[in-house]
Amino acid sequence: MSAAPFFVAPLDATHDRTGFRCGSAALDRYFREQVTQDIRRRVAACFVALADRKRIAGYYTLASASLMLADLPADIGKKLPRYPAVPAVRMGRLAVDEAFSGQGLGGALLADALVRATGSEIAAYALMVDAKDDRAVGFYAHHGFIALPDSPSTLFLPLATALASRKR
Ligand SMILES: CC(C)(COP(=O)(O)OP(=O)(O)OC[C@H]1O[C@@H](n2cnc3c(N)ncnc32)[C@H](O)[C@@H]1OP(=O)(O)O)[C@@H](O)C(=O)NCCC(=O)NCCS
Repeated sequence: MSAAPFFVAPLDATHDRTGFRCGSAALDRYFREQVTQDIRRRVAACFVALADRKRIAGYYTLASASLMLADLPADIGKKLPRYPAVPAVRMGRLAVDEAFSGQGLGGALLADALVRATGSEIAAYALMVDAKDDRAVGFYAHHGFIALPDSPSTLFLPLATALASRKR
């Protein structure tokens, strides 16, 4: 996490989601109306950044996924075993409340997701995202994510790369 006074925790029933506004109505609506169903059905896990251990300043979701080997850039795919697909962790959504934007929280939540993905006992090759627009693509590219050649709004970061940059 950044130096800012944020605390990241799994979303639970004590957190108040009603006032969250990130600038994307779809991401706000998902967080207000759908995320708890997804958690209950075990199709997503959700983590929130709390300001003063109370107000939700940002959230992200994680779920299991896979990346088709044939979709990866050729120079990366040829270094992987010849399975049809490799395991991945998908960050389905990432959003920061407008009151907290530009303070490093988005980057800190990305780093938090990478720590969870690399710390799991279940192997994954990469953290992947489906960026919702060009700005989001820019945000992930800025953080080292690589776009799939034929589907440039899907990006991935090999977890070995993330681990190596953490050791530096
Ligand atoms: C995208 C979003 C999560 C960024 O959060 P944030 O807290 O404002 O971003 P940060 O302050 O952590 O920025 C971290 C770094 O990314 C860079 N960055 C931010 N947006 C960027 C963009 N669109 N393109 C390139 N770089 C970008 C910042 O300059 C900063 O760089 P630095 O670490 O070198 O100083 C936030 O703006 C948001 O919630 N947007 C609406 C929802 C959304 O688009 N989600 C994307 C998921 S699909």
